[in-house]
Amino acid sequence: MTSIPTIAFKPHLLSVLRLALLMFASSAAVFAQQPGADGLGDRLYPRLGNGGYDVGHYAIDLAFTPESNTIAATAIVEALALQDLSSFNLDLSGLVVDNVFVNDETARFDRDDSELVISPSQALTNGEAFTARIAYGGVPAPISDPAVPWLKLGWQRWTEGYVAAVSEPSGSMNWFPSNNHPLDKATFVFRLTVPQPYTAVANGVLSETINNADDTRTFVWHMRQPMASYLALAAVGEFVEFRDESGPIIIRNYFPPDTDPGTITAYDVTGEMMSWLINLLGPYPFDEYGVVVVPGFPMALETQSMSIFGETMHDPEIILHELVHQWFGNSVTLMNWTDTWLHEGFASYFDALWVGEHYGARAYDGYVTAALNSNTALPAPGNPEKHELFSLSVYFRGALVLHALREEVGDETFFEILRTFYSANAYGNVDTADFIAHAERLSQRELDELFDAWLYGERIPDLP
Ligand code: TRP
Ligand code: ZN
Repeated sequence: MTSIPTIAFKPHLLSVLRLALLMFASSAAVFAQQPGADGLGDRLYPRLGNGGYDVGHYAIDLAFTPESNTIAATAIVEALALQDLSSFNLDLSGLVVDNVFVNDETARFDRDDSELVISPSQALTNGEAFTARIAYGGVPAPISDPAVPWLKLGWQRWTEGYVAAVSEPSGSMNWFPSNNHPLDKATFVFRLTVPQPYTAVANGVLSETINNADDTRTFVWHMRQPMASYLALAAVGEFVEFRDESGPIIIRNYFPPDTDPGTITAYDVTGEMMSWLINLLGPYPFDEYGVVVVPGFPMALETQSMSIFGETMHDPEIILHELVHQWFGNSVTLMNWTDTWLHEGFASYFDALWVGEHYGARAYDGYVTAALNSNTALPAPGNPEKHELFSLSVYFRGALVLHALREEVGDETFFEILRTFYSANAYGNVDTADFIAHAERLSQRELDELFDAWLYGERIPDLP
């Protein structure tokens, strides 16, 4: 009697134990699964970007119907989980989400303002590579952002027949779901389908133009270097391409067919600027460069490898400014939106260098004096509020920060600081402290006081 129950009992006990262990292990695992954060802690934009994962690549496949300004799209997001995740967020504003798959399995999703909350059927584990596929569409609603009160952001029509998405800082979430913060850069492919006779322009290299049976064409653009979401571009209209392959980097510009010849030739200076910048800073960071001119767009923006310009924005200073951003802004990118002076001050300062190069030291001094003379109008650029992110102060007092540094450390060290700050941080993210530390290391000087006064002091300090 004793042996039989013993024999039967042992396996039974073992399997009960195993089951208990399994349940314990899995409940512990479930307990460790957390939702990803809905932001990355940016002081000015706490809900932009999301925590818990890192995107490596986006594939945006988007068909556009101009008459109704409707998009029908699929976004594939390839990412790496940085923690165990019961759910994670993407930033998406407006539009309708049809379905979401994670690793090819249907996932639950919720919308909460501009957060798309995705709950995979199986929780993700720390270190796991995963793919999210989001089918979505509708009419994009332009976004109001206090940082740019003079226009709305995101996908929108600028005039009859011309649509373009411009996004700095927050706007890209009106046309594709993303981890919408510069801290999470990724490579991109855009497959943009538009009816004849439209052309679709985006970032990077145009690898293919496909003629579809239904009289539409698909333009395939690859951005092979890491890109922040705010630098993503789509521009749709009738465009004529002008190519220049004579310089170190292929330059391809897109203009409306009726653009006046003076506007087109105004961009001829790009090649010379390109060589000058490569010489000063090091290799151009992307495969090709160029501009797309969009009628009705009132500004210029440094969208990665394909800056977008309004029809009247072709002064050399602006052409140079957007080109400089390819190094400072697009390749070396801020890690908090509060540091826009690292983009705008740098790009503006190169305008002074360029006029100095071409018209002599007096032209450089003239630029500096003009900036200095607006003393009372230039509050501290280092810690702006949202509505000051692209203020004159950030541009011009931001540029003066570099001028002051140059006066303090001398030309040779100054240009070495610029060049090595660039090369050490290419394709990455930086903050103001990184720049100060770098300048101190190269100059072997204490520079806290100088930077404090120029970046945060109420009034413009005296030059060193
Ligand atoms: N970065 C732009 C420049 O070159 C200014 C800017 C910020 C902008 N946000 C924008 C321009 C949105 C057009 C649209 O100085
Ligand atoms: Zn700028």
